[in-house]
Amino acid sequence: MKVLATRRYPGPAFDELRDVEVGPLEARDDVEALIVANEPVDPAAFPSVRLVANFGVGYDRVGIELLRERDIAVTNTPGVLDAATADLTWGLILAARRRVVEGDRRVRAGEWKGSWADGFLAEELTGSTLGIVGPGRIGSAVARRAEGFDLRVLSARSRDGGDALDELLAASDIVTIHAPLTPATQGLIDARRLTLLHDGAVLVNTARGEIVDENALVTELVSGRIRAGLDVFAHEPQVPKPLLSLSNVVLTPHLGSATRQTREAMTRLAVENVLAFERGEGLLTRVA
Ligand code: DGY
Repeated sequence: MKVLATRRYPGPAFDELRDVEVGPLEARDDVEALIVANEPVDPAAFPSVRLVANFGVGYDRVGIELLRERDIAVTNTPGVLDAATADLTWGLILAARRRVVEGDRRVRAGEWKGSWADGFLAEELTGSTLGIVGPGRIGSAVARRAEGFDLRVLSARSRDGGDALDELLAASDIVTIHAPLTPATQGLIDARRLTLLHDGAVLVNTARGEIVDENALVTELVSGRIRAGLDVFAHEPQVPKPLLSLSNVVLTPHLGSATRQTREAMTRLAVENVLAFERGEGLLTRVA
């Protein structure tokens, strides 16, 4: 089966594909399966494609409705990236709450003068309240790690309804988002909901930028009222310019799953779906 992959995906599993070409998603009629990293697929450009194997758990950009209409199967890579994404979430929580990146910049700029006992204080993490929006696989892995910090953990599912989410936002010192991007979660944390966060609260997003109203978030961050750790953005790789000069936000380039082990496991799952399809067996992680 002829496979087109949008890059050489990392790890040894990629070499198990017998007939694979690496290249951009340009129209052609000889390819039967695609491996993509949440890139939009135009099914009309690939009339022979029967499978799209997405490298990633989120498949919000591939255009699943059109693929489903044309009976093209779609798979993703759930489970294998939960730990890496939860770890990065904790990196952002700690960095934003304890002003780690700000401190690093201060040292490098030669601005560390005088005694450690003077100023530059942050808010305590231990004993605070963590609100998890979307307590699925990744959200639960974040919650398990919270035990070590003696946090009180609240959670709300995006489908729980507005009141539960509003209460969580108002009661939490740190809010972390782990919902998938769907029509129902797009803009879920809108301007009104952002105002429910209390002064000094930290918002962490390692899910999808579009779940938060990005303009409203920028306004809140520019005001200095809240802090944030952001790994995802609405128009990646673009990051809203005003954020670049702010010290109350930590910015990372969509690193949630970016460990060697996790990315190799994602490749393995994508490849195993392709090989199962080729053998006429059931797909391991089918989403359409
Ligand atoms: C995913 O799998 O959807 C992630 O965004 C990749 O880190």
